[in-house]
Amino acid sequence: MPSVLVIGDVMVDVVVKPDGPVVSGADRRAAIRQLPGGSGANQAAWLATEGVDVTFAGRVGHADHARQAALLSDFGVRPRLAADRELPTGTLVTLLSPDGERSFLTDRAANANLCREDLPDALLDGIDLVHVSAYSLFEAGPRAAVLGLLGAARRRSIPFSVDPSSHSFLAEVGREEFLRWTEGARICFPNADEALFLAATDDVERQLDVLAKAYELVVLKCGTEGAYAAEANGGRWSVPVPAVEAVDSSGGGDAFLGGFLGAFLRGDHIADCLRRGVALGAQAVTALGGRPPSPSSW
Ligand SMILES: Nc1ncnc2c1ncn2[C@@H]1O[C@H](COP(=O)(O)OP(=O)(O)OP(=O)(O)O)[C@@H](O)[C@H]1O
Ligand SMILES: [Mg+2]
Repeated sequence: MPSVLVIGDVMVDVVVKPDGPVVSGADRRAAIRQLPGGSGANQAAWLATEGVDVTFAGRVGHADHARQAALLSDFGVRPRLAADRELPTGTLVTLLSPDGERSFLTDRAANANLCREDLPDALLDGIDLVHVSAYSLFEAGPRAAVLGLLGAARRRSIPFSVDPSSHSFLAEVGREEFLRWTEGARICFPNADEALFLAATDDVERQLDVLAKAYELVVLKCGTEGAYAAEANGGRWSVPVPAVEAVDSSGGGDAFLGGFLGAFLRGDHIADCLRRGVALGAQAVTALGGRPPSPSSW
């Protein structure tokens, strides 16, 4: 069984659905639910459900360290979580307005303190691939920690893959910098907005041309429009996305990642990896939250 080390963020997703419009200075009843999240942690969980041996490294608040670890090990992920004494676990608040519009408030909190001591070289022992959720590359401290470990992975000839994660944060750090940090990646998994930014063209074929020169394999997710893969040697694949009733689009990309990478590590043909990716992506968007269905409901 292949072994993967996933590095990324852990978040608590707080979903708030008020009974009516929020009134400044007054009370309003609301349905408020907490769901485990964080793109990197979600990806680790989906990958583990695909039968991959997964270790996840990240940083959470001290107060709920044990709970966050348990939420990952429930899926079979081996958690390697640093406990932050000052900052709590990162939190994302999703505010649903009565017309269905979503507003997000995000505080990366403990994730922003990820440091090199949290990512010792020993994490690489027995690992076949390191996967990086790029939220950990957008701030200087975590970035230095992740790039340090990727340097050690290179010296051991362990390949790595990367999910660019956020077109707005990519725009903050800049295209050239991101391409430099992730140079030599075995696979890069942009969505449509991230590919637009990284390739500087809105034409999908040209995006694939540009990004297949930067990475050994580029895997492009275009939401309901399909998913594509391209290699520098001219290999091209695409699959349509199954039509489903989406209830919560968040986590589609994380589930896709787990499906694609799991199949890729099994040695499946690229077209089959894409098919597995979109199948899990479609499954994820029909349920609330970003993690796979809870193991207790299997
Ligand atoms: N409405 C939908 N119906 C079916 N599948 C969907 C839908 N939306 C997303 N998906 C699935 O999720 C995958 C990834 O979606 P998307 O292109 O939005 O990536 P992403 O932006 O990285 O996702 P995320 O917002 O989770 O980071 C798609 O390839 C598809 O499999
Ligand atoms: Mg994404």
